[in-house]
Amino acid sequence: MAVPTIRSALPADEATWRKLWRGYCDFYGVTISDEITARTWKRILDPDSAVLCMVAQVDDQVHGFANCVVHENTWESQPVCYLEDLFVSPSARGHGLGTALIEWLRNAMRAEGWARLYWVTRGDDQNSRRLYDRFAQADGFVRYVIRQK
Ligand SMILES: CC(C)(COP(=O)(O)OP(=O)(O)OC[C@H]1O[C@@H](n2cnc3c(N)ncnc32)[C@H](O)[C@@H]1OP(=O)(O)O)[C@@H](O)C(=O)NCCC(=O)NCCS
Repeated sequence: MAVPTIRSALPADEATWRKLWRGYCDFYGVTISDEITARTWKRILDPDSAVLCMVAQVDDQVHGFANCVVHENTWESQPVCYLEDLFVSPSARGHGLGTALIEWLRNAMRAEGWARLYWVTRGDDQNSRRLYDRFAQADGFVRYVIRQK
């Protein structure tokens, strides 16, 4: 597989992004409503939104995405970037697309002046952790969540 191009998602990517998004939701066993999916896509395309989406393209075909939220924080004056969703289609895995997406974000962190790029993953997900361990050491924080419903 050729070297991937990493770029911002464009309106023409909608159908492919939605297909990959479904794969990502299936991976996590979650059902995200059509309304929320549409809202997320709308925010991705909105330059005034804090939501970003980078896609990994090889030979005119998009095979993966990284959805991020850039937000303020209380520990630094600069914003930080939360990599919320990362997905590469099963047939394209193991060819460096996930690596290229994270590398792109790490470069963007420096270029944009984000204080940090961070993400969370399941502690027992050895597949993705092998990739992540190449970039940083897990810091040992544990996530707690209280849901409204
Ligand atoms: C994790 C994921 C994004 C990696 O994408 P990728 O393009 O395959 O990653 P790369 O090719 O850059 O890196 C490959 C590394 O990822 C890991 N990896 C994870 N799943 C893999 C798979 N199915 N096939 C090959 N490598 C995989 C391996 O550690 C591999 O390292 P190795 O080459 O030393 O064996 C992708 O497997 C994926 O979308 N998985 C399902 C969703 C997911 O786990 N998202 C992250 C949740 S936090």
